[in-house]
Amino acid sequence: MKALILVGGFGTRLRPLTLSVPKPLVDFGNKPMILHQIEALKAIGVTEVVLAINYQPEVMLNFLKDFETKLGIKISCSQETEPLGTAGPLALARDKLLDDSGEPFFVLNSDVISEYPLKQMIAFHKSHGGEASIMVTKVDEPSKYGVVVMEESTGLVEKFVEKPKVFVGNKINAGIYLLNPSVLDRIQLKPTSIEKETFPKIASEKLLYAMVLPGFWMDIGQPKDYITGLRLYLDSLRKNTPGKLAFGPHIVGNVLVHESAKIGDGCLIGPDVAIGPGCVVESGVRLSRCTVMRGVRIKKHACISSSIIGWHSTVGQWARVENMTILGEDVHVCDEVYSNGGVVLPHKEIKVSILKPEIVM
Ligand code: GDD
Ligand code: MG
Repeated sequence: MKALILVGGFGTRLRPLTLSVPKPLVDFGNKPMILHQIEALKAIGVTEVVLAINYQPEVMLNFLKDFETKLGIKISCSQETEPLGTAGPLALARDKLLDDSGEPFFVLNSDVISEYPLKQMIAFHKSHGGEASIMVTKVDEPSKYGVVVMEESTGLVEKFVEKPKVFVGNKINAGIYLLNPSVLDRIQLKPTSIEKETFPKIASEKLLYAMVLPGFWMDIGQPKDYITGLRLYLDSLRKNTPGKLAFGPHIVGNVLVHESAKIGDGCLIGPDVAIGPGCVVESGVRLSRCTVMRGVRIKKHACISSSIIGWHSTVGQWARVENMTILGEDVHVCDEVYSNGGVVLPHKEIKVSILKPEIVM
């Protein structure tokens, strides 16, 4: 089986992290976002993944070369010279996706996180006999997504409305599709939206089916959703593979600590924290609801909550970092400095406190 991951876009909403790497390579739960998807695809027997990309393909491929051999899966790029939207890239990768098997293939948005119940999706797809299956999930604020109106008992999609202006329902497109090869005959090689053009057409022919995604789901392409997504992801690890989480008197709730990270005495860590490879957390540090990426040093008695600390940054002694502070790569927060929602570009030194949410260039 094959799969295509839609990797385009500049990831502007996740700056300053995406100033250092393309969005799919930003770490989430101690590994690049896209690895969560590639591993899930591999686990259900996908042998080849095509990355549909319109920006920095070398960076992605160099990084993923290692994982090709480690995971035993073929990874290739299909590069656009102009952004082709969410359907055009399928037409561009047509020859890579088609083979003699006639099997359906997966298409994933690159910025969503879930338990990827792909096996169940294959069974669902086989059971309805339609041309395409999509996963849906319920959200409180459907207007920023694609909304799907479906027949509850069969999953038959009656309507697909991308970013509706008026309320049509609260089940939304989760960005995980399983498509018959014939869907490719519907898509021309030009900028096209699968949500606005392809799916409404297939739905009007009563060949589009939706399955309610079991478990959690989050689009983690924005800092606030990224932090919420980490909480949901760690909750799901607690349910399914609790052995991956840290435990001990200094841990509260769900915490992921990379085996190569060092934690000093008298810290209090959690809930909902991920500490990446090679990090050093000195004594007496307090961390909650935050991500600390590879190679970060947090000095004594610092306190960090609801924030993301980018690769190889340092946070000084008695510093306080909170309220959606996002530190880019290699940022240095001096001792005793306070950051209230500062968004700091890579390679900066922060010597004075940031008293209200702002971008520090
Ligand atoms: N290759 C390529 N080329 N990929 C693209 C392009 C492009 O021109 N434009 C967008 N993508 C990729 C993005 O990188 C992302 O993985 C996916 O297509 C969806 O684009 P987003 O920009 O993240 O869309 P969205 O979040 O506003 O809405 C989409 O996702 C929602 C779920 O998170 C839609 O699919 C909605 O229907 C859906 O509910
Ligand atoms: Mg998105």
